[in-house]
Amino acid sequence: MNLVVVSNRVARGKANEPMTGGLAAALLPVVENSGAVWVGSSGRVRDGAQREPIAQIEQLGKGAVTLLDLPAAHYAGYYEGFANSALWPALHSRSDLISVSHDDYRSYREVNGFVARALLRFHKPDTLFWIQDYHFLSLGAELRALGIKSPIGFFLHTPWPARSVIDSVPNHRDLVTAMLAYDLIGFQTEDDRENFIACLRADLGLQVRDGIVKSRHGRTRLDVFPIGIDAEKFAAAAAKAASHPDVSRLRRSLHGEKLAIGVDRLDYSKGLVNRINAFDRMWTMHPTLLRAVSLLQIATPSRESIEAYGNLQSEMARLVSDVNGRHGEVDWTPIRYLNKGYGQGVLAGLYRSAQVGVVTPLHDGMNLVAKEYVAAQSAVDPGVLVLSKFAGAANELDTALLVNPHDIDGMARTIAMALSMPLNERRMRHEVMMTKLRGRSIQQWFADFVEALQDGDAAEVEIEPLPAAPAGLLSGRMLSPGQRYH
Ligand code: UDP
Ligand code: G6P
Repeated sequence: MNLVVVSNRVARGKANEPMTGGLAAALLPVVENSGAVWVGSSGRVRDGAQREPIAQIEQLGKGAVTLLDLPAAHYAGYYEGFANSALWPALHSRSDLISVSHDDYRSYREVNGFVARALLRFHKPDTLFWIQDYHFLSLGAELRALGIKSPIGFFLHTPWPARSVIDSVPNHRDLVTAMLAYDLIGFQTEDDRENFIACLRADLGLQVRDGIVKSRHGRTRLDVFPIGIDAEKFAAAAAKAASHPDVSRLRRSLHGEKLAIGVDRLDYSKGLVNRINAFDRMWTMHPTLLRAVSLLQIATPSRESIEAYGNLQSEMARLVSDVNGRHGEVDWTPIRYLNKGYGQGVLAGLYRSAQVGVVTPLHDGMNLVAKEYVAAQSAVDPGVLVLSKFAGAANELDTALLVNPHDIDGMARTIAMALSMPLNERRMRHEVMMTKLRGRSIQQWFADFVEALQDGDAAEVEIEPLPAAPAGLLSGRMLSPGQRYH
């Protein structure tokens, strides 16, 4: 088997570098172990004056990563525009934040077409293509239009929302139709799969039987593959990280006070504002917790050129400063707020230093931080996970303290309860969650998906030309070499 994995964001496998998001973090070890070729964006753009995309190839364990410079004329419309200002807000049920133009959609389709052409060079008779996430909903259809008959799978790392929400994305019918070129579509949860099925029924009049939808494009299987982590690796890293300078400095600074930790990209889906409000409420409702617990919130800047993200950054800075100003003392800061990223080795040690992990997204496909926090705890004296019921991880981690992230009082009460949970209850909850994490590792997720893709009957796929792709890839303006958009 010759596996080609495709995603917009890739990891480079450099030790101690922060991961940008769960997709890159999850795929790195599976590419390293499986020998797959991983194709993604280099983060640089280039004028499309050449037909043949420029690719830079690096070894990654047994596998390799290939970085593509994407077309300059379409990059912003694709990444900041359609992918992250239409699809991302819609997939996270924030239609109020959709801001997109028809040119952005055209750019999105152009970039999908461009990547499909770049993939031709990796195509061999036994190739399986595995496309990742919402950046490439139409990539399978572009590959079929180029005559590729190999199995093509797709995995969505985000939620798939209710029909009324996806309805607000311009051209969503075209995109859902294009997705039927995939042989297998994987979702994080059963709810996501059901929402997608409802959309197929209502928008395209298609029925799904035994998890298979038949369309004029062929057969597509729809299944659920909750993504996992390497729990043992995190546990080992957490134990080892105690001596890391950042971890030991943190522990020394606590003077017996307890710590809660949050680790998130600065994204409106993560529920950061509500979380800070909940801590504010908790300190107001329970003054005995002042000086007794502080919050370490790592909020890594993300997609900064997009207005909604810039607004969130300013709102968070104001809010944290307000709460610290109100509850702080000359020698005590309630919230340590850091806008930077940490390597996963250090992160594991920071998780283990905290008695409470707060993971309270408004919506999240899975949320790997929740799983990593649990895996990093000591089995002898584990911390407590406070987890949003709207994170995909809540399906498995159901012995966490589940909260509604819109209920500020409820979250404040639950965090206070987590801080005083007796040891035997903490152990019991932790053990149940660890058993689940071990049973569904990242390597298992990978093996299950690839096996399902191999089992599919790709020969039944009919190849149909796509509606004419818009012309104009070659008209990009010249940018300075190495110009970065993200
Ligand atoms: N992460 C990291 N360094 C940081 C913050 C996060 O390496 O400073 C990693 C974290 O360990 C996790 C991923 O980024 O693996 C975040 O994944 P998650 O599913 O929680 O959220 P996403 O960012 O994908 O929405
Ligand atoms: C989420 C998405 C990924 C994305 C990551 C980081 O996890 O599902 O596809 O890579 O966020 O976002 P970025 O835009 O920086 O790649």
